[in-house]
Amino acid sequence: MRLADLARGAGAVLDGNGDVDVTGISYDSRHVDAGDLFVAVQGLHVDGHHYLADAIAKGAVAIAVERSVDVREGIPVLRMPSTRIGLAELAAEFRGRPSRRLRLAGITGTDGKTTVTHMAEHVLQSSGIVAGAMSTVAFKVSGREIDNTTGQTTTEAPEVQAWLARMVDGGAACAVIETTSHALVQERVRACEFDVAAFTNVGRDHLDYHATWEDYLEAKARLIDLTASSVDKGIEKTAILNRDDISYDRLARRPIARRWTYGMSTASDFHPLDLAITGSGSRFRLKTPVGETEVSLNVPAKFNIYNSLCAAGICVALGVAVEDIGSGLAGFEGVRGRLEPVDLGQDFRVYIDFAHAAGSLASALAELRPFTRGRLIVVFGSTARSDHDRPGMGRAAAEFSDFFIITTDDPLNEDPVEIARDVQAGAVGKSPGRDFEVVIDRRSAIRRAIEVARPGDTVLLAGKGHERSMRTAAGSEPWDERAEAEAAIRERG
Ligand SMILES: Nc1ncnc2c1ncn2[C@@H]1O[C@H](COP(=O)(O)OP(=O)(O)OP(=O)(O)O)[C@@H](O)[C@H]1O
Ligand SMILES: [Mg+2]
Repeated sequence: MRLADLARGAGAVLDGNGDVDVTGISYDSRHVDAGDLFVAVQGLHVDGHHYLADAIAKGAVAIAVERSVDVREGIPVLRMPSTRIGLAELAAEFRGRPSRRLRLAGITGTDGKTTVTHMAEHVLQSSGIVAGAMSTVAFKVSGREIDNTTGQTTTEAPEVQAWLARMVDGGAACAVIETTSHALVQERVRACEFDVAAFTNVGRDHLDYHATWEDYLEAKARLIDLTASSVDKGIEKTAILNRDDISYDRLARRPIARRWTYGMSTASDFHPLDLAITGSGSRFRLKTPVGETEVSLNVPAKFNIYNSLCAAGICVALGVAVEDIGSGLAGFEGVRGRLEPVDLGQDFRVYIDFAHAAGSLASALAELRPFTRGRLIVVFGSTARSDHDRPGMGRAAAEFSDFFIITTDDPLNEDPVEIARDVQAGAVGKSPGRDFEVVIDRRSAIRRAIEVARPGDTVLLAGKGHERSMRTAAGSEPWDERAEAEAAIRERG
């Protein structure tokens, strides 16, 4: 693409030869290819403006900056007030503004984003609408699933735009993207023209990055502003809000054309009637602003009822007929690693779940309680990421399980024994050996939990979920939680 056209489309000021051909966009000087436009972004740790010479040496044909810089004679420069916003705009322009050719929903919140993303994508596809999705777990293009191995839930803007373009090429009419508050703050979804902004809950995790809960909520609320101000594609800009969450009052103040609420009470636009809990999930009549539909949900836990209400709101807003919502939800078999059952015919239940913070661990356990006749046993650890409340995880296990095993989960360069000690500090009043054990080796911890399980018990293996690696000081080694659980069940015989 011609640099001058790219600059015009993205609203950048061009200094130098606009005729050069740009064949890619990069923001990391280590990954510059010949022909790229290099966009200098001020990151948390490094400033791209210091790597301009490196990028040019690797073949960058132009650079984009937000500060005045000295560059080699003859290299065209794009100037813009914010290269973060610029990166998103340039990437969108480079891909032909794909989100203008899709009906697009963004999903944010503390818990349930991935689940809602895949539920909504599933309902869209099963109603006959070709759809795409991006989540922590996978990228989906017209029903095809590709593992998300980037380590990021919402990738950087050039990747987001590239996936959206792939979806358009694959014939998608709708797309659903999981959007973290980091991504919103860093403008990674800035040039995404959203039609629907959906919210799960807004808890108190991730507070190291955002100074206060209000900041965190504010970051997430920007999804509504982005949606309200994006191009009109003929469907009403809609916010889908959780009426039962503490975030509701604040979020409901943000201006947008249409606001739909969901929740368990009849004060909400999307709510369940005649709710019955079943062995594998729940059954209810879903009331919506456009009619009713019978839903039978084959995923356990009350939070999945909330997730289904949110997904239903998104799909109705995107144009799915109400009668297709019930049948679509009925066929949803869950997300890999999210309360995923491991059933080899054993007389106790085993679930794998990605819950790796105090709040989600507590709610996963609380949710499994009604489905458990015997004891509730959990295996978990805290990761090296400092934003996780370690004693809080210990407290959650102590409060909501009957027996727990503290183990290892991605310790990186930290000592797993010390991490476990931090977790244990929260388990006030519980005694080692009787109420819990510390088994640092995760493989052994899983075997131990399966070994102590009795008929009617439930074993929750928390934290790893869909992940395929264990990251330690020695590097990254392959990990498969399901294979470990199955092996342990078989060994027990
Ligand atoms: N609506 C919800 N409310 C509370 N907890 C939930 C909800 N939905 C899911 N959870 C719990 O959180 C876990 C993670 O769910 P999911 O992956 O869908 O959330 P996420 O928001 O994508 O999380 P992450 O921030 O890790 O990407 C689930 O396995 C479950 O334990
Ligand atoms: Mg997620």
